[in-house]
Amino acid sequence: MIVLGIESSCDETAAAVFSHEKGLMSNEVYSQVAIHAQYGGVVPELASRDHIRKITPIVDSAIINAGLSLADITAIAYTKGPGLIGALMVGAAYAKSLSYSLQIPAIGVHHMEAHLMAPMLETDQPSFPYIALLVSGGHTMLMAVYGFGDYKVLGESVDDAVGEAFDKSAKLLGLPYPGGPHLAKLAEQGDSTAFNFPRPMTAKNTGFDFSFSGLKTAVRNTYLASDQSDRVKADIAASFQAAAVDTLVLKCLRALEKTGFKQLVIAGGVSANKRLREQLHHRLRLLNVQLFCPRHEFCTDNAAMVAYTGYRRLHENPCDADTDLTIKVMPRWPISL
Ligand code: KG4
Ligand code: ZN
Repeated sequence: MIVLGIESSCDETAAAVFSHEKGLMSNEVYSQVAIHAQYGGVVPELASRDHIRKITPIVDSAIINAGLSLADITAIAYTKGPGLIGALMVGAAYAKSLSYSLQIPAIGVHHMEAHLMAPMLETDQPSFPYIALLVSGGHTMLMAVYGFGDYKVLGESVDDAVGEAFDKSAKLLGLPYPGGPHLAKLAEQGDSTAFNFPRPMTAKNTGFDFSFSGLKTAVRNTYLASDQSDRVKADIAASFQAAAVDTLVLKCLRALEKTGFKQLVIAGGVSANKRLREQLHHRLRLLNVQLFCPRHEFCTDNAAMVAYTGYRRLHENPCDADTDLTIKVMPRWPISL
């Protein structure tokens, strides 16, 4: 099977080719960051329009860079949700039209399941069962993963996603969009103990859910009451990052302890965070738990993970392929359904 993957759920237009024999053959990502930067966040209508502009050249590059032609593709996987409705519609319409013209199956993939599968693109892969921490701009989820398609959500954020908290705190500190990586960079120059920000929902008996809106408010109040100097900004960034990471690490340890699982997977944009990786490495080594993190380009949005997930779904259950030409997307879509 040679699967063309298409990702367009937010502000990246991406296409990739995955072959069950050769593995990942190409991986193309075009980011709309420059378009949205002037607005300080993603403008959904501009995102949809730009996906329309870039989807054909990106798909063409993915196929050419794989050394293939369209006739070699045997299935198409596209992100069906969750995400921005207009952006999703572009990828879904393109994928389904192309599958119809080539007379090959199309399959709609869950974006977070694709993030969850990203470590499977690496040579060192986890084996079931394991705990997964999915951390992106729209989601914060802790899951028990028993097999492909067999997931139990242990906890999720009751308010903001952790990536959203990074982005909003970064914006407050005057950092460019998208804020997460910029805040992480600034944090390297700051003192992570300068401000004792809350570690929300970490007390005993708080379970596996997360809450990040209080932390974001604490950052805001501290910043507005400060002299707003560069020194203070770096200290706030470092202290915020420490609080967010401590919270994520604590919940992971809690889930590992409860299940007794010996492997942890982290995925999604925030899993690129250096402090999160370092803290987990350090804590898990002591517990003899193995950590699996995808490489940076597989953490943030990409189509390699979509192509791979589509391949797994079609391989395990060919009936999962779309059965008609209706273009249906799922802007909200729980992963455990
Ligand atoms: O998975 P992703 O690319 O897109 C979504 O599905 O949301 O995640 C994007 C999120 C953004 O909030 C971004 O700021 C955050 O991941 N992010 C980071 C880092 N790199 C990306 N947050 C903290 N540290 C980073 N190094
Ligand atoms: Zn994502």
